[in-house]
Amino acid sequence: MKILKFFLVFTILGCLSWPSIESELKMYIVHVESPESQISTQSLSGDLESWYESFLPNTIASTSASSNEEAPRLVYSYRNVMKGFAARLTAEQVKEMEKKPGFIAAWPERILSLHTTHSSSFLGLQQNIGLWKNSNYGKGVIIGVLDTGISPDHPSFSDEGMPPPPAKWKGKCESNFTTKCNNKLIGTRTFPQANGSPIDDNGHGTHTASTIAGSFVKGANVFGNAIGTAVGIAPLAHLAIYKVCDSFGCSDSGVLSAMDAAIDDGVDILSLSLGGTTNPFHSDPIALGAYSATQRGILVSCSAGNNGPFESTVVNEAPWILTVGASTLDRKIKATLRLGNKEEFEGESAFHPKVSNNKFFPLFDPSENATDPDSDSDIPFCGPGLTELSAVAKGKIVLCEVGGGFNRIEKGQAVKNAGGVGMILTNRPQDGSTKSADAHVLPALDVTSSDRNSITDYMKSTKNPVARITFQGTIIGDKNAPVVAAFSARGPSIASPGILKPDIIGPGVNILAAWHNSVENKTNTKSTFNIISGTSMSCPHLSGVAALLKSAHPTWSPSAIKSAIMTTADIVNLNNESFLSETLTPARIFAYGAGHVNPSRANDPGLVYDTQFKDYLPYLCGLNYSNREVGNLLQRKVNCSKVKSIPEAQLNYPSFSISLGEKPQTYTRTVTNVGEAKSTYRVEIVSPRMVSVVVKPSILKFSKLNQKMTYRVTFSTTTEIRNMEVVHGYMKWTSNKHFVRSPIAVVLQEPETPDID
Ligand SMILES: *[C@@H]1O[C@H](CO)[C@@H](O)[C@H](O)[C@H]1NC(C)=O
Ligand SMILES: *[C@@H]1O[C@H](CO)[C@@H](O)[C@H](O)[C@H]1NC(C)=O
Ligand SMILES: *[C@@H]1O[C@H](CO)[C@@H](O)[C@H](O)[C@H]1NC(C)=O
Ligand SMILES: *[C@@H]1O[C@H](CO)[C@@H](O)[C@H](O)[C@H]1NC(C)=O
Ligand SMILES: *[C@@H]1O[C@H](CO)[C@@H](O)[C@H](O)[C@H]1NC(C)=O
Ligand SMILES: *[C@@H]1O[C@H](CO)[C@@H](O)[C@H](O)[C@H]1NC(C)=O
Repeated sequence: MKILKFFLVFTILGCLSWPSIESELKMYIVHVESPESQISTQSLSGDLESWYESFLPNTIASTSASSNEEAPRLVYSYRNVMKGFAARLTAEQVKEMEKKPGFIAAWPERILSLHTTHSSSFLGLQQNIGLWKNSNYGKGVIIGVLDTGISPDHPSFSDEGMPPPPAKWKGKCESNFTTKCNNKLIGTRTFPQANGSPIDDNGHGTHTASTIAGSFVKGANVFGNAIGTAVGIAPLAHLAIYKVCDSFGCSDSGVLSAMDAAIDDGVDILSLSLGGTTNPFHSDPIALGAYSATQRGILVSCSAGNNGPFESTVVNEAPWILTVGASTLDRKIKATLRLGNKEEFEGESAFHPKVSNNKFFPLFDPSENATDPDSDSDIPFCGPGLTELSAVAKGKIVLCEVGGGFNRIEKGQAVKNAGGVGMILTNRPQDGSTKSADAHVLPALDVTSSDRNSITDYMKSTKNPVARITFQGTIIGDKNAPVVAAFSARGPSIASPGILKPDIIGPGVNILAAWHNSVENKTNTKSTFNIISGTSMSCPHLSGVAALLKSAHPTWSPSAIKSAIMTTADIVNLNNESFLSETLTPARIFAYGAGHVNPSRANDPGLVYDTQFKDYLPYLCGLNYSNREVGNLLQRKVNCSKVKSIPEAQLNYPSFSISLGEKPQTYTRTVTNVGEAKSTYRVEIVSPRMVSVVVKPSILKFSKLNQKMTYRVTFSTTTEIRNMEVVHGYMKWTSNKHFVRSPIAVVLQEPETPDID
């Protein structure tokens, strides 16, 4: 829905800004083979570019002659992420190009979206990241952030106490802002460059960058409330900003180009809080870019997407990516609704009046008045049409449904414009208990869909329904936390169901971090903070943790860092019970993967599953991709019939996701000792229901560091399976100092031939 809307806006802008002859021009990403003569791509960018240009159809010359306002046709030349380029072309020109030798594939540019659910609100409260006690603070690590840009003047990006960037840094500070880059903000680039400024006019990029590596900001506060210290996860790490998105979204051609540049610039971590839809990895731009980045030792951390709680919605799910879902903190920003019949409902709100008003006001449900579903369609959602009902809404607390194409703040504004004194925002059924604490323009709170039913029942039960809203502010200590957020995208992965995704969950609901401006008051632009939610917010937490681990263990590979994060994750909440989902019932394993990140344990994992880069070839062939498709990803000629391909579950991954029928399945895993030289690990198994898990050997004795040992694990069913079902468990290697846990997800398959009773 969102992507569709972005596409629409994009097309309209295109038509307006280009001469009519170019109106059918679209940006295409074109995949080509490496030029045969060029064995090495090093220092051959000039030759590459002429090779790419040779694909542009001849007709372009005549077209451009008739158009005096020629937009550049070859927009990006890629070097690292793939062999190919992005260019403005018509569909006919792409057809022409397909005939040229060396052409592989072309796809029209796609617009990716930011993974934030609620994008307009603010609040200044002390940031609550008490998780990590690592002493490195990410020193010496460079994190590339692909997002909406940056607010360079924000104190979160001050470089006080920051060492200069490491010598390997080759990035640029391409910007027209008066503040130059500094030792915190070491690079800024914009894609496409035509849009010039890396300044963040959306807020999203400032928020994610400060979550990853914001400096300590003492006395962070808004409107005098909640004075405290705000700080990112890796406060001594350096930030390199690649602006690839604006409020309309992010083009995949620009994202690829930014990843291409970041690889050359020398980043250690890439953080992407954005994405599109699931695609096979050979035609998924983020999977492509991340593959090349990982090959150069860069860890790529991505948001899982916000299309939860529905199944198989996870994106950015390639096994070389760290895929991050979102969960709640133990913090609420509480508000309470009390009805005239003394019933109370707990909600959340960042609205915080200086003086609270304990008065009751009449209640009004505008959906009652939306008599014509076509012309009144925005009324139940409190769109601008609500003003038509000012006569009724005046002086009342108005009940508004989430959705309808208006954001939460806009709804409050509409209620205010209609003369309302307060707003009850009611979520959709699928949002469950996930609530949003927004900075409303009037007293308002967010309640669940089932609360709405109770409220309307009360309204029907009395002639003069009344209510009041009071604000309790920040409350710490929700023992259900972390609860998987409703919006957090769920597995199983469509592109590769044999890899458990998301990998991990981290804080992503009502997260406070730096913001580009003051929402309420434009005079306070230098030290503003905001609360927003999304897997966009959980991904930067994990990018920051990865930076800490990289700093503490410079020799660890991206997959070793990822393994350390996954095998040490928490699998219980603060109540010491299984994670709950937004329905407050136990979450399925496809919601949380390996569990909730535990940074200090991740620093000392004992053993790691260090996926070897060469294993991706047999894995990709095992996905039944064609030689050409695998070749696209690997950027070399591949013949899968000469490769001993492996099933997905055989990849040396820190988790298991298998589809199990009557036939037992056996896989091997190899662990590397990064704990004590002499150590002994014993296996402990918590089998999924109806599944037997046998591990051989069951004891691993290490005598030196970096020693590798391989074990076999066999899965089989213990009973006849009648219905397809998802079950889960885990296996855990335990020494006297460490545990190394791998989650196991099993989709039980019915027998092929149905029983005849
Ligand atoms: C930087 O460039 C942007 C876009 O071209 C422009 O809007 C902005 O005013 C420029 N800022 C400065 C300080 O020149
Ligand atoms: C809205 O509905 C109420 C209750 O049905 C009714 O009294 C009122 O006249 C309606 N107002 C408008 C503007 O339709
Ligand atoms: C904005 O902030 C200034 C200075 O703190 C204050 O005087 C003014 O009343 C504020 N305006 C609004 C609309 O809150
Ligand atoms: C948590 O639960 C487990 C198993 O139910 C139990 O063994 C453990 O002692 C509990 N931990 C705490 C801190 O209560
Ligand atoms: C690939 O094809 C083989 C043989 O047809 C099949 O057994 C296997 O399940 C396929 N793998 C995937 C991931 O589709
Ligand atoms: C791939 O290898 C197989 C087996 O060696 C061979 O028959 C086939 O021709 C090769 N394909 C290509 C495109 O080289």
